[in-house]
Amino acid sequence: MGGRIQPVKGTHDILPEEQGAWAAVRAAAEAILPRYGYREIATPMFERAELFERSVGVATDIVEKEMYTFSDSKGRRIALRPEGTAGVVRACIHHGRLRAHPLDKLYYLGPMFRRERPQKGRYRQFHQLGVEAIGEAAATLDVEVIALLARLLDACGITRVTLELNSVGCPACRPAYREALVAALAPHRAELCPDCQRRLETNPLRLLDCKVPTCGEVTAAAPRLLDHLCEGCRDHQGRVEAGLEALGIPFTVNPRLVRGLDYYTRTAFEAIAEGLGAQAAVAAGGRYDGLVAELGGPPTPAVGFAIGFTPTEIALRELGLPPEADLADLRAAARPRVWCVAITEDDRLPALALAGELRRAGLGPVGLDSRGRSPRAQFQEAARAGARHVVVLGPDERAAGQVVLRDMADRREERVPRDEILGRLAAAGRAPAGE
Ligand code: HAM
Repeated sequence: MGGRIQPVKGTHDILPEEQGAWAAVRAAAEAILPRYGYREIATPMFERAELFERSVGVATDIVEKEMYTFSDSKGRRIALRPEGTAGVVRACIHHGRLRAHPLDKLYYLGPMFRRERPQKGRYRQFHQLGVEAIGEAAATLDVEVIALLARLLDACGITRVTLELNSVGCPACRPAYREALVAALAPHRAELCPDCQRRLETNPLRLLDCKVPTCGEVTAAAPRLLDHLCEGCRDHQGRVEAGLEALGIPFTVNPRLVRGLDYYTRTAFEAIAEGLGAQAAVAAGGRYDGLVAELGGPPTPAVGFAIGFTPTEIALRELGLPPEADLADLRAAARPRVWCVAITEDDRLPALALAGELRRAGLGPVGLDSRGRSPRAQFQEAARAGARHVVVLGPDERAAGQVVLRDMADRREERVPRDEILGRLAAAGRAPAGE
């Protein structure tokens, strides 16, 4: 006898009963994004590892520690995608979309993979809804994209979120800030955690984001990037803030907000939900004006974000609003209207055929016993499932080319010609229940 096989650490199953939050995010995406001009794109779940090294950055936690990388049979280094932006940009360059679509608005839904330390709301395979608007540098696009994020979160029922905003500068102003930061922190090197000691050389901006308390104390007094922005970045940031204010979208400026991915320029933002703990962002994103060129395409500005499904689900639960309304809808949609009951073994295939016919005709879920149980047990099951009608297939009726239609509300039964049953049920479906 084999032992049970455990799931891989950091992975999880999403059971049918847990699909409510997922359905809420998916439904919000599909209803809202097309209205904003976004179209769906799907890119592979694995890519050349180099794609993420050049976009997310070699000195980030994601690439350094968290990427699932392996060599294929030809020795090429492949990685499971840790995020979606790099793949979307690669696809746009590969298919020459950037010229044909001066502003390409794209979204995607799918799993991402990071070997993160398992903690509340963080998994090693997790799902994102990502949104990318590629081709426009103006701050109004940042405002539009952030407004879209607010709209999506609202539609998912996530109400208690804070939008944090910062500018991470650009290649013109960041190097000087980096130097100023290193100069200010180097004397405190010994007080920093080992990771931050290393980051001081490789990626000093990430120090601002370290969750170790002593590092937080050291960096509290460090110079702020917002005070070191070049004129272009300062102007851009001012326009983003003014635009959000004009639209009535609340935000707070967090000068310590740095993102865990290197491709960002200027605008960076996170949507923080209450009750999620340290890794509280339900969504995050920003502008990445250098990425397309970095990956070999024509210089093209862009901005986007991704919403994490799991943090969203937890946030919904913490709000005390498991999406009950959605769940009720889902349950109602899954409830069979019609149940086919087979009286004898010989009626089972005809019942299966009829159920298929009714489903194809759009009568919604149609129930059917697939265990060969007694007619009585089948009727009980139909009643438990809440079916409005039961269609009974028995030997006598079969011989006469008929079926029995039972209305479960008043238990009335009548014989109906087999080839009229579809029309009868469709007509009953149009009448209000109970009539
Ligand atoms: P990110 O901040 O790495 O950004 O991830 C975005 C969101 O994905 C997070 O706010 C969080 O909700 C969710 N998330 C990340 N890691 C995990 C995990 N291990 N388990 C569960 N959820 C997680 C990006 O990925 C960028 N590509 C976003 C972007 C798009 N920027 C521009 N365009």
